[in-house]
Amino acid sequence: MRSLGSRAPLRITKVPYIQEKHHEVSPNVLKRESIGSLSNCSACHTTAEKGIYEDDYVVIPR
Ligand code: HEC
Repeated sequence: MRSLGSRAPLRITKVPYIQEKHHEVSPNVLKRESIGSLSNCSACHTTAEKGIYEDDYVVIPR
């Protein structure tokens, strides 16, 4: 939330901190049927439902 300053984003995917954390994920990867877009957090963050986004639990599906 600190990365926002006084801005109010419409989408979590526009939050600078979130964008920065995903800049290495290529748009081609996001287009995969198993993912769709960056807003599909739980496609890659296997523990997203528990609110856990640690990199240890990231699995990018094929
Ligand atoms: C295409 C797969 C993918 C999707 C979809 C995705 N992420 Fe990520 N996320 C990653 C990868 C890869 C990293 C970087 C892991 C690393 O640092 O090695 C990451 C990192 C993060 C981090 C930082 C974790 C850390 O320990 O530094 C957060 C927070 C995060 N994602 C939240 C989200 C949220 C919220 C969403 C949904 C709006 C989302 N992610 C969607 C793949 C994804």
